[in-house]
Amino acid sequence: MVHRFTLTTPLYYVNDKPHIGSVYTTLAADAMARWRRLQGDWVCLITGCDEHGLKIQRSAAAAGVPTKDYVDCMAGHFAALWQRIGISHDRFVRTSTPRHQRLVHEFYERVRSNGHIRLGQQQGWYCVACEEFKDADSGKDGAPPHCPIHDRPLEWRDEENLFFCLSHFQEPVAQLVAREDFIGPASRRREVQRFVEAGLRDFSISRVNLPWGIPVPHRPGHTFYVWFDALLGYISALGDPDGPQDLATALASGWPARLHLIGKDILRFHAVYWPAMLLAADLPLPKRVFGHGFLTREGRKMGKTLGNTLDPEALFAKVGVEPVRWYLLRDIQFGEDGDIQQQRFLDLVNNDLANTIGNLVNRTVSMSRRWFADCVPPREAQGESQDDVVPHPLAAVAAATTARVSQCFDQQDLQGAATATLALAETTNGYLSEQAPWSAIKDASRRGAVAAVLYGVLEATRLVGICLQPLVPELSNRLLVQLGCDPLESRHGLPPGAWEQLVRWGGLPHDQPLPQASPLLARLELDGDL
Ligand code: MSP
Repeated sequence: MVHRFTLTTPLYYVNDKPHIGSVYTTLAADAMARWRRLQGDWVCLITGCDEHGLKIQRSAAAAGVPTKDYVDCMAGHFAALWQRIGISHDRFVRTSTPRHQRLVHEFYERVRSNGHIRLGQQQGWYCVACEEFKDADSGKDGAPPHCPIHDRPLEWRDEENLFFCLSHFQEPVAQLVAREDFIGPASRRREVQRFVEAGLRDFSISRVNLPWGIPVPHRPGHTFYVWFDALLGYISALGDPDGPQDLATALASGWPARLHLIGKDILRFHAVYWPAMLLAADLPLPKRVFGHGFLTREGRKMGKTLGNTLDPEALFAKVGVEPVRWYLLRDIQFGEDGDIQQQRFLDLVNNDLANTIGNLVNRTVSMSRRWFADCVPPREAQGESQDDVVPHPLAAVAAATTARVSQCFDQQDLQGAATATLALAETTNGYLSEQAPWSAIKDASRRGAVAAVLYGVLEATRLVGICLQPLVPELSNRLLVQLGCDPLESRHGLPPGAWEQLVRWGGLPHDQPLPQASPLLARLELDGDL
């Protein structure tokens, strides 16, 4: 049976071009989508842009450009970057479209008629960069408090707003966030639980004097609070992008999401507010929300004022896509904060990809070609019958690796999947050096044994290539092609059950022609900074 697997990245604010944080979440989501496609699921990877709110309205004004033109231009940067780096998303949703607006209106009507909207007075300190009210007191002299994240003064608000009655959902949300499988990583669950235990308070979902937003029906002068509208983007992304748009159609096309992948700063919106909104509209809840950590650079927070941001477009142009994917997914424990360090980046890419994996492929293919007529050698020593064949020493290691890789991907442990794959390459290299077929081949009577050694090494290398596919798909395909195998289609997916076949030991056909070896990845040298 084909399973539907909808997963999402956050919908990125278009106040600026993509930054390395948005790239990080998107790469991780792409790896997971590719993983599920290899498992035979019918995947829908949703990404897109969150285009309303005061922050964006102000950025456009500062640039002296009409807001609509501004968001079109920025959304274009996101779409172009994802295309350029081969992100395999199935939907790119934009919240400033009439389609999305219709769905927000329909959803709001449901929540309102279910009795979960009220009118109230909103007073408080607002952070425009977070687009969120903060619990904070003004300084002694009445000076505005600062946002702890953005270190900017908060703005005072006192206006009549519509409120969403979050307090109606205290019990079901408390139960939800206590579940072991709902919030990942487990280390973040406690902080959300504490927030819920402190008592859920209704939050305002409309704004006055903010024209750049979706108008609230029957409330002239009110537009929806950007988060109320943005979260619904996950649903309006579903359905046929060219067909009619309504809640029922969208919901029937892949809702509920199996996984929302987000940064830790927006966990509360996804794990508390969003489920409550869905409950208020009698809709099914997402299965899991995973909040990853924040990236710093050489130990420092990245920011324009610090002048140490890492421009993704320049970065990819300099070093290519695969090294960045490998470094970010392999070096940072997904869920924890991570520090981008230039020297470590170079070391890991060169050691893991160019040396360990690249050399393994290169030397094994070269030897097999030289001694076995440009082909994969026979699997067992000549003269042995099938019954005499003892399992290849690498077979058990490879089976344990593919099982571990599956387990890691299913738990969003991308680093675990990468290190298990790398360990198989290291073990295989070690085995090759130990067996030293280059000496054994000099003795004609040991030719069969050399064939068996090389077959095992080539087969383990094929499995390394397969396990690499979700993480570094192009490199994985280059590796597989060097073994004479077909590239894997993790963008479009495999039929259910195909993965089990693929990772079965012995899948590499004996006698398969091996193309001329070429370096898998050139060693990276950097002239200047990343
Ligand atoms: N628009 C909202 C999301 C709405 S989802 C319905 C938003 N957008 S954002 O563009 O500001 O942030 C998108 C993601 O980038 C967040 O998950 C955030 O955690 C992540 N990051 C922003 N800076 C980051 C780092 N320095 N490191 C890692 N991720 C970071 O929030």
